[in-house]
Amino acid sequence: MGRVALVTGGTRGIGAAVCKALAAGGYTVAANYAGNDEAAAAFTAETGVPAFKWDVSDFSACKAGIAEVEAKLGPVEVLVNNAGITRDGMLHKMSPEQWHAVINTNLNSVFNMCRNVIEGMRERSFGRIVSISSINGQKGQMGQTNYSAAKAGEIGFSKALAQENARKGITVNVICPGYIGTEMVRAVPQDVLDKHVLPQIPLGRLGEPEEIARCVLFLVADEAGFITGSTITANGGQYLI
Ligand code: CAA
Repeated sequence: MGRVALVTGGTRGIGAAVCKALAAGGYTVAANYAGNDEAAAAFTAETGVPAFKWDVSDFSACKAGIAEVEAKLGPVEVLVNNAGITRDGMLHKMSPEQWHAVINTNLNSVFNMCRNVIEGMRERSFGRIVSISSINGQKGQMGQTNYSAAKAGEIGFSKALAQENARKGITVNVICPGYIGTEMVRAVPQDVLDKHVLPQIPLGRLGEPEEIARCVLFLVADEAGFITGSTITANGGQYLI
């Protein structure tokens, strides 16, 4: 049995591609999901990867969910914080609910998950944590003060956690995807995509979820132990940092 990897938001979009790539790479994979039972059942039927339902914005739910995964599969050695939502809107029209939903699901979740695996990783002197941030956490995006703040927050969080755990065999890294062809990006109005997004991508296309999964595989490898606190951008050249 390979190392146990847990992917939040793992049954759809980038998360599903990450789970499939990890499984193909010999990892023992668990996918977390929050709400879409139908998609989760279809994902498990297709891949054989078990899906575990809990809300990553809820600390106690993360604690219980991780305990369940560990009871079934063994200690979590690889954590991929992928779960995320958008509630786009200009700040002058944004409700507190839109703000808090995104901060809770995209950023507080990273604390909730990491806090509940870090002690075990430290005891075992091995861990790989990868968080899926976004180009919009690096450059900012109109209509996304909430999302840009959360995604930038993941980067700072990861740099701090990387330093805290460097001597413990635990690496903590971030991937910043650009616009990937998932449901999340396809929810952006087509005219906005055509007028404001696609022309900004030198490659001239959206990315594929598998292109992000490839970055995850690279970072979680046992051989990647010297790479920590780093950010990989995979955005088709849209924003160079
Ligand atoms: N860049 C430049 N201009 C933009 C723009 C953008 N990305 N998005 C909208 N605009 C422009 C519009 O064309 C419009 O200009 P005009 O008045 O000249 O026509 C003006 O801003 C106002 O836009 P709307 O009429 O759409 O205003 P709205 O209040 O109804 O909605 C909005 C504003 C919420 C920003 C909406 O346009 C929107 O959803 N934009 C997309 C935001 C976005 O890129 N989200 C990324 C989602 S994918 C993701 O988050 C994954 C990831 O990690 C990359």
